[in-house]
Amino acid sequence: MLNRIVRIMGGDPNKRQVEKFSETVEIVNGLEEQFEGFNDEALRAKTNEFRLRLAQSEMLDDLLPEAFAAVREASKRTLGQRHYDVQLIGGIALHQGKIAEMRTGEGKTLVATLPLYLNALPLNPQWSELARRKWGEDPTRWTFEPLEETPVGQGVHLITVNDYLARRDARWMGVIYNALGLNVGVLQMAARTENGKKAFLVDFERESPHEDQHHLRMVDRREAYAADLTYGTNSEFGFDYLRDNMTMSLDDRVQRGHTYAIVDEVDNVLIDEARTPLIISGPAHDDTAWYVRMAQVVKSLSPEDYEISERDRTVTLTEIGETHVESLLDMPLRDPDRPEDVTPEQARLMGFLEQSLRAQHLFKRNKDYLVQAGKVIIIDEFTGRLMPGRRWSDGLHQAVEAKEGARVQSENVTYATITIQNYFRMYQKLAGMTGTAVTEAEEFDKIYKLDVLAIPTNLEYLASRADTTLIELEDRDEKGYKYQYYADQADSGRSPRFWKRKDYPDVVYRSEEAKLRAIVTEILHYHTSGRPILLGTTSVELSERISGRLRAEPVRRLVQVALLRQAWMEQHNRVEDGRVVPELEFLNQPLDQLPIAEMRKMAHELEIGFNPEAPDNLEKLLTILELSPAEATRLEGVLKAGIPHQVLNARKHTEESQIIAGAGAFGAVTIATNMAGRGVDIKLGGDLADQITAAVSRVLRRTGYADPYDMTLEEQRQALLTIDPAEYGIYEAEVNYFLKHMEDMQRVRDLGGLHVIGSERHEARRIDNQLRGRSARQGDPGSSRFYLSMEDELMRLFGGQQAESLMQRMRIDEAMPLEVGLVGRIVEQSQTRVEGANFDIRKHLLEYDDVLNMQRAKVYEQRNRIFT
Ligand SMILES: Nc1ncnc2c1ncn2[C@@H]1O[C@H](COP(=O)(O)OP(=O)(O)OP(=O)(O)O)[C@@H](O)[C@H]1O
Ligand SMILES: [Mg+2]
Repeated sequence: MLNRIVRIMGGDPNKRQVEKFSETVEIVNGLEEQFEGFNDEALRAKTNEFRLRLAQSEMLDDLLPEAFAAVREASKRTLGQRHYDVQLIGGIALHQGKIAEMRTGEGKTLVATLPLYLNALPLNPQWSELARRKWGEDPTRWTFEPLEETPVGQGVHLITVNDYLARRDARWMGVIYNALGLNVGVLQMAARTENGKKAFLVDFERESPHEDQHHLRMVDRREAYAADLTYGTNSEFGFDYLRDNMTMSLDDRVQRGHTYAIVDEVDNVLIDEARTPLIISGPAHDDTAWYVRMAQVVKSLSPEDYEISERDRTVTLTEIGETHVESLLDMPLRDPDRPEDVTPEQARLMGFLEQSLRAQHLFKRNKDYLVQAGKVIIIDEFTGRLMPGRRWSDGLHQAVEAKEGARVQSENVTYATITIQNYFRMYQKLAGMTGTAVTEAEEFDKIYKLDVLAIPTNLEYLASRADTTLIELEDRDEKGYKYQYYADQADSGRSPRFWKRKDYPDVVYRSEEAKLRAIVTEILHYHTSGRPILLGTTSVELSERISGRLRAEPVRRLVQVALLRQAWMEQHNRVEDGRVVPELEFLNQPLDQLPIAEMRKMAHELEIGFNPEAPDNLEKLLTILELSPAEATRLEGVLKAGIPHQVLNARKHTEESQIIAGAGAFGAVTIATNMAGRGVDIKLGGDLADQITAAVSRVLRRTGYADPYDMTLEEQRQALLTIDPAEYGIYEAEVNYFLKHMEDMQRVRDLGGLHVIGSERHEARRIDNQLRGRSARQGDPGSSRFYLSMEDELMRLFGGQQAESLMQRMRIDEAMPLEVGLVGRIVEQSQTRVEGANFDIRKHLLEYDDVLNMQRAKVYEQRNRIFT
């Protein structure tokens, strides 16, 4: 009803909210000049002033404009980045406890600094009590410093999805908080922190050659929570909460309450991760021998003994199978006369058997888990990361250990458990941000009472203002694909200044082999021209398989096939029209099984050379790959040496930061699992360290540019070029580095920016969009394309048959892609269906945990009473 009224009145509620917030933004903008006037010390002193005013009963909301102005000013001075107006809007939404949906690459890391700072200001009640005792009732006499190790503020939390992002963001934003006199704690996983006893504080004095320790000082976990702000992952926060409630005294607790949290990548944390509760457990029964025995039994079964349903994730024994198992175990699984009466012993046996069957047939090594140093470690399906310490429940983990011949750890009993949902419901105020939330708005509302506010991109917002200098335009590229960009209104040539990402339509093949070939061909095409590429895969296994295909030999095979195909077509006066060509079908078998002798013979008959680098072949390849003649040398190099690339997956993540830092460089090829799917910020031309941007801003300021922060990097470059290099002074090295970087960046931009390739669809559309979102950030050029095959899991399990039979009937050549229109709908439908099913699973888990939650709350409350 309310919605209807709004519609009749002609207002989109989302838009009106944004408009309303922009009034506050104007107030913050109005304060800018005043804050620019403060020296560094005066700016830092603002924090104490704000805290004093809060102690004098001023309201937090009333402080918002000034606090935001202070953060923006601190950011300009330290990072050289000025929060855009939309970023302030996002900050207001987060302060109000909403979910801010801001597209990928819009700068949410920076947005979070505004509400985090504001909400870190209120005084810790224990501290106020101590202050009153020490200095009396009048807050003007107080000094806002820790008393008896009791921190001044209440502590606010920034939750993100992995350790890499937690430490990256804490350090990245740490300079802003430090400039305002606040300190920052960082949680990292147990393996790095003496089993969760320690954590870190951001400390810029502390240098280390190891990225994961640089600018971080190890401290007791408690100290990281005593900081004004604490960054960490949801499982670290959740486990600390559970452990705290298992300690024997209050002094051993590390957390100090749950006042305000911002959850970054909120859909991942509150929706995807919420499917598995956090569990702390200890050893119980010793059934290890049974798992080992059952694994052997299961391995010796034959296909007629069981039925697999990948779709329902179940394996069941057939009648033949039951008899077979009974003879292998030499004991009955049930009484033949009274099959319903199962003894407890037999029920347990069936339990082992069931898990062993699932372990054997449904759980795949290098996809669902890795075996490392004799241990089975789960790979998180959404983030592609290892989850050491987490175990599947109900004996499944043991069954997988037995299957892999790893040491089987005895089964566990649960000591403490909480769902992610219930952990986050404890916060007095909870906010979230992500690039992909709106599709899940209903769930956020129902379970967390969180509103989603969709915020326009910076460029959309700027272009919509009355005083805009931008204009949004549409054009078609050489292939006929539509794309949108922004140009300056003043520019009569209307040359693009900012871009929207080009999402090319999916390409679907019948077989996985054909899909992989198409992917490698695309990589070959872009890499040769120098465009950086990020290839996303859904498993470690696939990332390594594709990596293998970029070696010289398979690349040469691939182009040999292309050359043969083309020569044959030419000689037979045919063009590729999608129909099967029986004479060429032998070329469709897996690359490493191609009959070389036969191919050679065919090349001979077609009168072409077999060596792809021979000049006439090279020339043909340039045409096939749609490359310009100028790229012949690079192509030759690739044919000789393969395609140089980096792989980022759960097995290989120690160099994560370096790999990401280089992923946008000229010619870079990065293959990554979902690990690189979220939060990761890839800079075109390679990474530009913050100290460089800050140095450039200083030089520009000194030479008379009042607001270097308002300038784009390109404008800064232009400006620097007009300055006499003698003026660079002590920043000469930084400025020169910047100029060189800008040249590389320009090259990459001219080529079209980062190109993202998806190699499979994920169950949830959000995950796919996150991968695409690694490119075209902040108005940069960039594009994406997904390659699918009818053999992909999603297609196989959810409605691929329709399309497959269609392809069969139409006799479409395996090497040829299918028109997307046909299958596009099927893909979408499958995804929606799975998303719906998953929502149901989460609802049930929560209903179940709700009961537990009441109990937990009671027990923990009693413990607290006993302790205090
Ligand atoms: N106000 C600003 N001025 C200049 N650059 C900015 C500004 N805000 C953000 N950026 C830059 O934009 C890039 C993307 O930022 P960030 O990684 O925070 O985006 P995000 O919204 O978190 O994206 P994702 O959804 O992928 O996590 C970063 O390189 C950051 O430095
Ligand atoms: Mg982010």
